[in-house]
Amino acid sequence: MRTRVLSGMRPTGSMHLGHYLGALKNWVRLQDEHECFFFVADWHALTTHYDEREIIGQSVYEMVIDWLAAGLDPERSTIFLQSRLPEHAELFTLLAMGTPLGWLERVPTYKDQMEKLKDRDLATYGFLGYPLLQAADILIYKATYVPVGEDQASHVELTREVARRFNHLYGRGAGFEDHVAAALEKLSKDDQRYYERQRKAFGETGSHEAWAKGEALVRRNAAAIAGWTDTETELLLGHLKGSGRSVLVEPQALHTEVLRLPGLDGAKMSKSYGNAILMRDDAETVTKKIRGMATDPARVRRTDPGDPAKCPVWDFHVAYSDEATKDWVVKGCKSAGIGCLDCKQPVIDAVVAQQKPWRERAAALMAEPKKVHWIVETGTERARTVARQTMKDVRAAMGLDY
Ligand code: TRP
Ligand code: SF4
Repeated sequence: MRTRVLSGMRPTGSMHLGHYLGALKNWVRLQDEHECFFFVADWHALTTHYDEREIIGQSVYEMVIDWLAAGLDPERSTIFLQSRLPEHAELFTLLAMGTPLGWLERVPTYKDQMEKLKDRDLATYGFLGYPLLQAADILIYKATYVPVGEDQASHVELTREVARRFNHLYGRGAGFEDHVAAALEKLSKDDQRYYERQRKAFGETGSHEAWAKGEALVRRNAAAIAGWTDTETELLLGHLKGSGRSVLVEPQALHTEVLRLPGLDGAKMSKSYGNAILMRDDAETVTKKIRGMATDPARVRRTDPGDPAKCPVWDFHVAYSDEATKDWVVKGCKSAGIGCLDCKQPVIDAVVAQQKPWRERAAALMAEPKKVHWIVETGTERARTVARQTMKDVRAAMGLDY
């Protein structure tokens, strides 16, 4: 089975090049190797923008169109809408019961965002709890990998802690010992003894080697024994670790190298700063925007030499240009051999070329809004199948299956 990847994005409306290079490009690539789940985190948008009811609705499908335009393939990726899956809220509620308040107060984004979004009243319960909602989003799909930006790393870390605590509290639910014994019975006598030795060694010394040996043995038997189930694997691995069964899976953050693309003024690219190039801007708009971009402030006149390191256009060259072009920029800029408009032209050409297939795909999708809705509908139902199964396991583990 392919490993599962899950990620979400808040609906911010039309996406810009920063979103593409920072996240979406990576999502498109991940589809080749993993089973991917990508969702619109509309509840997350409400944690900070709970008073803006129009914007979210408009933004959802705009964003999905950009995802599809960039190359997300609904045949391979499950694309869905968080608010259609009340299972996320159920898991969030159940996890909330045992999550220490301090874990949430200590998440670095909590204070940061409070500071940054001073104009909003974020002294809300939803805002404090939002990383836990994110944990529920991830855990409900038993995702192995979560591609996120550096700023969200602490949320994945919290998710791991929450999963660990859950497994510790509930992984030894009713009959745990009996189920372990029944699974062990399926192994040969020699393997049972070997497993027991590794378990003891791990328990006594925390030896990584013992853990690895024990795990290898379990996996070997899982592959060899007919009718062996994933639950049995979880039971034996849980017992090996002494933690109980892993009902929830600890995910790993996937930080791929991403290029930071500044906005037109050199600050962070953001639609709300008015310094963004949208994925679906037309060629004329792109040309105008890039021609008007800020450059090294030292180049006041055409004859003044400049320094690419102090110029946001250079960051675009890093993202879009080949070595020869970059060489030409560095030399031409430092010697005042080229003008800034000359320098910007290859960037304009590259961005326009990159956007061409996006605009074409988006135009086709916009002509068929029902198709886009259908893609989200289908994805949501696919996600629901997985989410429901996890909730069954979770309820059973917590003793709520009466
Ligand atoms: N919190 C993320 C953001 O603001 C979006 C998000 C919500 C997410 N749930 C997630 C990302 C689960 C990864 C996995 O960008
Ligand atoms: Fe920036 Fe290019 Fe002008 Fe140099 S020549 S300041 S890199 S736009």
